[in-house]
Amino acid sequence: MKGIILAGGKGTRLYPNTIAISKQLLPIYDKPLIYYPLSVLLLAHIKEVLLISTPEDTPDYEKLLGDGSRLGIHIEYKVQDKPRGLADAFILGADFIGSDSVCLVLGDNVFYGQYFSTILANAQAQIANGGAAIFGYPVANPKEFGVVEFDEHFKVISIEEKPTVPKSNYAVPGLYFYDNRVVDIAKNVKPSARGEIEITSINNAYLEAGDLNVTLMGRGMAWLDTGSPKGMLKAAEFVQTVQDMQGFYISCIEEIAWRRGFINKDQLRSIGEELKMTDYGRYLLSLLEE
Ligand code: DAU
Repeated sequence: MKGIILAGGKGTRLYPNTIAISKQLLPIYDKPLIYYPLSVLLLAHIKEVLLISTPEDTPDYEKLLGDGSRLGIHIEYKVQDKPRGLADAFILGADFIGSDSVCLVLGDNVFYGQYFSTILANAQAQIANGGAAIFGYPVANPKEFGVVEFDEHFKVISIEEKPTVPKSNYAVPGLYFYDNRVVDIAKNVKPSARGEIEITSINNAYLEAGDLNVTLMGRGMAWLDTGSPKGMLKAAEFVQTVQDMQGFYISCIEEIAWRRGFINKDQLRSIGEELKMTDYGRYLLSLLEE
């Protein structure tokens, strides 16, 4: 399975923070926002990653993450010249995806929870023989998201993008698993009223084909909002609180790469040594004592 991170867009809701820097490079406490979605792909054992961003920002991501070899993975980059919509990820990524299945994670989505690795593995298993797997997560403000509509037996009837009258409070987080058909489906998506080719149209195409799996995430999962300065501050406080209380870091990409066997102890040590002037670097070095 291939992995795509969509990290473009203008980030206008965070201006002036994002006038000169890409939103997904802003910090959430002690690490750039992009580390959080990248950690999702690593947790899912995905080693081939395409990062899509704007013409201005792509060089910054290359500077931060390079070719991925420091994490024992392979990262490629693709420029999106305009924010045409999330479905564009599969059009821009068509060559990269080839004949494989794909996981898309949005560059501004932060997930954390005890059974998250199992949730990811289950989604991958759900689409092993074809289809799509997405999630539903209860939110207080469903109007701002893709929203799942259920019938009285909790069977999914439709997904609506930013409905004015939401039919449930289950939003669809920015984490999607698809079989290879997604490339052709994306190429045929028509722009919505707001002029974007929507991921929601792709999900509805799978739903109509009877091939959409929707798993509801429960209380044990945190899906944090980074769409506003307040959301980013709260997310940072959440990360700090959990890390300080537990001593385990959230979305530490080097740790996950090491635990997944993508890099060995010596590679982890050398990154830890480089960063040892920070708590982050000292945390990496402390892992070697386990
Ligand atoms: O976060 C989950 C939500 O993400 C879903 O519930 C919605 O169904 C989905 O449409 C999307 O809604 P947003 O309005 O939050 O998406 P936004 O335009 O903010 O873009 C999400 C990320 O993708 C953000 O990091 C910017 C990036 N992006 C966005 C577009 C439209 C791109 O890189 N290129 C694009 O063309």
